[in-house]
Amino acid sequence: MAIPFQLEPLQTKQLEQIVQLDRICFGGLWTKGAYEREINSPNSFLLGLVKQDDYQNEQLIGIGCFWAILEEAHITLLGIHPDYQRQGLGKLLLCRLLETAIAWPLERATLEVRVSNHPAIALYQKLGFEIAGRRYDYYPVPPEDALILWRSNLDDPQFHQQLKDYQQQTIQSLLTNGWDVVQSG
Ligand SMILES: CC(C)(COP(=O)(O)OP(=O)(O)OC[C@H]1O[C@@H](n2cnc3c(N)ncnc32)[C@H](O)[C@@H]1OP(=O)(O)O)[C@@H](O)C(=O)NCCC(=O)NCCS
Repeated sequence: MAIPFQLEPLQTKQLEQIVQLDRICFGGLWTKGAYEREINSPNSFLLGLVKQDDYQNEQLIGIGCFWAILEEAHITLLGIHPDYQRQGLGKLLLCRLLETAIAWPLERATLEVRVSNHPAIALYQKLGFEIAGRRYDYYPVPPEDALILWRSNLDDPQFHQQLKDYQQQTIQSLLTNGWDVVQSG
């Protein structure tokens, strides 16, 4: 049977699951209180990817966030539970974050990523992010530099079409791999 899943803005009732997934994906980056502030902040967009099991239980398996600062979307989080990586879910989550940034409407997107995080860098580059600089010793544990990535021209109609195409292709490939998008709200 297909596994139903949906993308949805996260709510305070999901805080326990959010913190659990944060530990798994990012090693405990933000506290429960920090996530609660994100949920309540008008300048923050916190998006979850939730799957349902056979008993209608919901499990949070992906999380993404950006902060709107002036006309920029600062992507602060993007993570997929390790059991569900490499199936297109990260790309879908990032596409939805960027679509929301376009709708807000923001002009550019930026983020920092560990220089060794090749999977994430490859994903961001697929969506048109370019390396703009390096922050030395940005991450304390383990110590590492960060690359600064930027994606400009979010308002480019060609980019909007690319986001739509990517999402359609990814959803199609997820369907053939046993997933079922129940809602894209
Ligand atoms: C980065 C992350 C979100 C990607 O999620 P994912 O669901 O596995 O990614 P997808 O399956 O959607 O892959 C999309 C693209 O990313 C790249 N990619 C993803 N995983 C990769 C890997 N292990 N090696 C190389 N490229 C990879 C590929 O370009 C891939 O496209 P392709 O499948 O057409 O080759 C996931 O690896 C993750 O949660 N990592 C831990 C948290 C993290 O590092 N977040 C980023 C912080 S800035």
